[in-house]
Amino acid sequence: MKLYAISDLHLDHQINSNAIDALPAFPEDWLILAGDICCTPKQLHFALMRLTQRFSQLLWVPGNHDLWSGVSDIKERGEAKYQKMVSICHEFGVLTPEDPYPLWEGEGGSHYLAPLFLLYDYSFRPSDISLEQAISWAREAGIVCTDEYYLDPTPHISRQAWCQARCDYSEQRLSELPKGIPRILINHYPLREDLVRLVRIPRFSIWCGTQRTKNWHLRFDASVVVSGHLHIRATDYRDGVRFEEVSLGYPRNWNQARGIEGYLRQILPAPTKTSNEK
Ligand SMILES: [Fe+2]
Ligand SMILES: [Fe+2]
Repeated sequence: MKLYAISDLHLDHQINSNAIDALPAFPEDWLILAGDICCTPKQLHFALMRLTQRFSQLLWVPGNHDLWSGVSDIKERGEAKYQKMVSICHEFGVLTPEDPYPLWEGEGGSHYLAPLFLLYDYSFRPSDISLEQAISWAREAGIVCTDEYYLDPTPHISRQAWCQARCDYSEQRLSELPKGIPRILINHYPLREDLVRLVRIPRFSIWCGTQRTKNWHLRFDASVVVSGHLHIRATDYRDGVRFEEVSLGYPRNWNQARGIEGYLRQILPAPTKTSNEK
């Protein structure tokens, strides 16, 4: 019984959605879906219909694309869109950030698995750039995340206000977990700015997380932190904690000859340490 993770399936791309059908079954194992699975409720239904047949348990967290509205025929906006996607997960028995954190008892030993929805607050920016300047600072470099048009924070007054509310909620719940059992933290966005290495588009960092979570791997006893969003797969270590970026990405970001199977990241049991040990 193993725990795998993948993110950024982006099933609105036909190549990616076709590749799901070629994925073999892992009937004993669990799979984490770490966000950006798709945009529409219909696509999420499609994905879960197929993936729940292949794994014994799924866990899901939203990415920015899963929260979009104003594209396709999506009716719900903001919090309502999130709740709509959660309700589809629940139809399929998929665990979300709104459910009790399950206790993993498979290979790799006991761990609490904590799916989180934390969003971003534009704080991954240089110290001389104010919050008010952040988006124009990115725009100067020709970068504006599509979320500025499609990620509606309603009823929150802004995406950063929604992020703060989600961090408050998640901190509370994580602090209530029983002590002495390590946790796997699962979020679409990396928890630390130093893991955001965007060589070609460095100013995209403002849409990639929040400084609030910089030390959550220590504060909440994580043995592994799983994230996606960057479309730059990596394994890093900070303070002895493993950070896994598990993106598949757009068709240009992965080799279709390997299939999606080739991109499933084993979270538990822990593989042998490989790269970027710090
Ligand atoms: Fe993505
Ligand atoms: Fe994303």
